[in-house]
Amino acid sequence: MKIKTVSLFCGCGGMDLGLMGGFNFLGNHYSSLPFEIVYAADNDNYAVTIYNNNFEHSCIIKDVRDIDLTEIPEHNILLGGFPCQSFSISAQNPPRLGYKDERGKLFFEMVRILKEKQPRFFIAENVKGLLSANKGKAFPIILEEFRNAGYYIKYKLFNASHYGIPQKRERVFIVGFREIADHDKFEFPEPTTLNETKVNLESVISLDAHLDEKWYFSEKAVAGMLKVQHKMNKGRDQNLQQPCNTISSHLAKVSLNSTDPVLKINGRYRRFTPREAANIQSFPDEFQLGSVSENRQYRAIGNAVPPVLMWHISNAITALL
Ligand SMILES: C[S@@+](CC[C@H](N)C(=O)[O-])C[C@H]1O[C@@H](n2cnc3c(N)ncnc32)[C@H](O)[C@@H]1O
Repeated sequence: MKIKTVSLFCGCGGMDLGLMGGFNFLGNHYSSLPFEIVYAADNDNYAVTIYNNNFEHSCIIKDVRDIDLTEIPEHNILLGGFPCQSFSISAQNPPRLGYKDERGKLFFEMVRILKEKQPRFFIAENVKGLLSANKGKAFPIILEEFRNAGYYIKYKLFNASHYGIPQKRERVFIVGFREIADHDKFEFPEPTTLNETKVNLESVISLDAHLDEKWYFSEKAVAGMLKVQHKMNKGRDQNLQQPCNTISSHLAKVSLNSTDPVLKINGRYRRFTPREAANIQSFPDEFQLGSVSENRQYRAIGNAVPPVLMWHISNAITALL
């Protein structure tokens, strides 16, 4: 019998894929885990299109605020990478609104469902900035809300590059337990790749893309960037021998004047392809992106939880089952 899971804010399904397992990434097999998704929803129809092209179960397009509790089936785990824009340190405009912002309030939707449905576990994911948002005031409030919903809490800041992923993405995972015995027994996974065993960016970039002009920035864009590079720390070409800096959801609009990571190949700057972005996030090669525009692919992929990181956390949950 599989453990029934409900996935809110599921996006294109990075978190859900990691939870279910049964995929390969860079020659490693991430085995199937005993979980099934019985209900998944997101309000972005492009992300949902990608999701539905990759899973046997389907996801619905729905604003979480419109979900009636009666439509959510009984389940044992609730997942939610609740929207992080308003908690993000990198969201400078408007600056760091945190929990006062409308989108920040979406985590209350998770709380609403937890209070009513009382699944045995929940797993929430968010940006590192959540820990310090609103001068450090937001995070304790969020934890208190989860506790008031009847949960014992453990949380940890993860760096994806410590778990076989070629990206230095840092994300907080909050795991909630209805039973104290589960809370006491649970241990977050230990790193699998540290120091020289980290996976580098070179292992996931495409030599074919090097040959396609489409991905390169124009000479004009490069000249403009070079003028301000020292002052502004722009044009962040990545060291191929290291994991990549964090890729974001606005990679479609990446310019040399942003702080997004780019590549420098034989002295020329280029952006990542959507497939490379998916690789950097540890999606397997079979994961289908192509049904929506490239802009939408970048967005969904940049928003995702790295499946391999989620696999490690989900695998740690299986020790309690
Ligand atoms: C950080 S992403 C989650 C990514 C996902 N967990 C994954 O691993 O691929 C947040 C998601 O919340 C969705 N979202 C934002 N506001 C929403 C709302 N009001 N109702 C439902 N989904 C919403 C966005 O479309 C986005 O896909």
